[in-house]
Amino acid sequence: MDSTTIDTTAHQTAMRAQWDAAATGWNAHTAIIRAWLRTPTDAMCRMAGVRPGSRVLDVAAGAGDQTETLAERVGPSGHVLATDLSPAIIALARANTLRAGLTQVECRVADAEALGVPEASFDAAVCRLGLMFFPDPLQALRELHRALRPSAGVCTMVFSRPERNPCISIVMATALEHAGLPARDPFETGGLLSLGLPGRVDTLFAAAGFRDVATTALDAPFRLPSVDDYLAFVRSSAGPIRKILEGLDASRAEAAWSDMRDRLNVFSTQDGWIGPNELLLTAGRRT
Ligand SMILES: C[S@@+](CC[C@H](N)C(=O)[O-])C[C@H]1O[C@@H](n2cnc3c(N)ncnc32)[C@H](O)[C@@H]1O
Repeated sequence: MDSTTIDTTAHQTAMRAQWDAAATGWNAHTAIIRAWLRTPTDAMCRMAGVRPGSRVLDVAAGAGDQTETLAERVGPSGHVLATDLSPAIIALARANTLRAGLTQVECRVADAEALGVPEASFDAAVCRLGLMFFPDPLQALRELHRALRPSAGVCTMVFSRPERNPCISIVMATALEHAGLPARDPFETGGLLSLGLPGRVDTLFAAAGFRDVATTALDAPFRLPSVDDYLAFVRSSAGPIRKILEGLDASRAEAAWSDMRDRLNVFSTQDGWIGPNELLLTAGRRT
């Protein structure tokens, strides 16, 4: 097995467990995630061609923040199907959209690589910060292609290169060091930065059959009052980092978080903590 092939069943089981455990934390940080991703999310909706009345597929929807944006854009005559591998996080998406009175939203547990939706049944599809976690992103894109009507649009959002996302690299490297694990190839399949190499997502889109494929890199700095706010977000919401540290006893885990805080403090400024971050938005159209 090399870095491009992994045990899919084990990966999905671990991924589901990670996100079930991180679901409450991710949901509790919706306000800061929304502020961080507002501009990229609006761009993603535009690039996918989401319009009033559209039927939209939202893959790896998490606690449903972008689902709410999609529902507002399609309006009461449209429909949004939000799907996620984690039952715990999609239950939160269901509760959030119901509370917001967005009756045009349906939430469902589904693996992105086998959505179980009828062929050619959606006008647009999005996947915000999900594609890089999938063991076989090409299969997920083929599944999206199958679900879309001819000429319908799709847009995915992933993290770009490690050097453009130093906070992710710092957090990952520190967690691995403290857990006594070897450094990982940042482009390892299923990892946070696995699709960050320029052109990688475009190649996958083309292989899945999409046309008019184009990627836009967007600067999306994470602005928070202090480094402690970012650390609190990572501690409660970052499934992959929590997973690396889960085997450590309490004092060794605290040492890891404290080391991470010191290293991330380099991004503290007079105007608060500003973590550099770059996203890749890739759009395409079904043939
Ligand atoms: C970083 S969160 C993003 C959630 C949401 N899209 C957002 O931006 O707030 C990643 C999500 O991907 C989901 N996920 C991971 N692997 C998946 C798969 N194979 N199929 C569907 N969802 C998956 C996780 O359960 C988690 O909810």
